[in-house]
Amino acid sequence: MTPLASVTRDDEASLANHLRRLPLERLRAEFTTQAEFVVIDQCVPNDVLKRLITRAHELRPQLHRNYIPGHKKGGSISAFHLDLAAFEFKALYASPPLLNTLETLTQKRLHVCPNSDPHAYALYYYTEEGDHVGYHYDTSYYQGERYTVLIGLIDKSSCRLECQLYKNDPIRETEVLSLDLPPGRLVLFNGDKLYHRVTALGAGEERVVLTLEYLTNTYINPTRRFVSNMKDAIAYFGFKQIFGRRAS
Ligand SMILES: [Fe+2]
Repeated sequence: MTPLASVTRDDEASLANHLRRLPLERLRAEFTTQAEFVVIDQCVPNDVLKRLITRAHELRPQLHRNYIPGHKKGGSISAFHLDLAAFEFKALYASPPLLNTLETLTQKRLHVCPNSDPHAYALYYYTEEGDHVGYHYDTSYYQGERYTVLIGLIDKSSCRLECQLYKNDPIRETEVLSLDLPPGRLVLFNGDKLYHRVTALGAGEERVVLTLEYLTNTYINPTRRFVSNMKDAIAYFGFKQIFGRRAS
């Protein structure tokens, strides 16, 4: 068996090589023009992507399902759970080459979330007919800005990520985009600026997305931490995943 540290080091070198070849200047200009939103295809090398997809398949029986009538239905696995089950997600989330690339695109100094945040990196599973998420912002509970990264892992579905660009801009006309998230496609956006939803899964379809969250300021006051944890417990990961870890 290959030692874990060596796999991580190989992946990081492969990722750094891959990201170096992206047309970063063009993508950064797009990100700025599109009010902090950009789509990047083939964002990670195939060997890294394959391993993430394998893990997503393996972890599927462990997902937590939730249903909030009128807003969302689907499954998820939190960072807390991923830390116990698969090192690859945290390794990608915290890898310097990815962080550097995101900083170049956003022109911001970015930080990973504190270890106490179950949403820092997570898997979203759409596995039952009608699984969806209604329109929302990825609101930051922290003092600074929150940037969301979505990476498609499995997409055998008719689901679309629908985005309303410039919704809060009084000058620009709102533009609606409808995207699929095939394996390796990355979407980066400012969570407080992009109004978005995921349309309903059809019968017999499947979709899995990796989400990563980065911050410009990691301070969160205890009340907002509690509110954020309650939201994550109810809408995403369940009380056991969020509050059980502290108990254990
Ligand atoms: Fe979202």
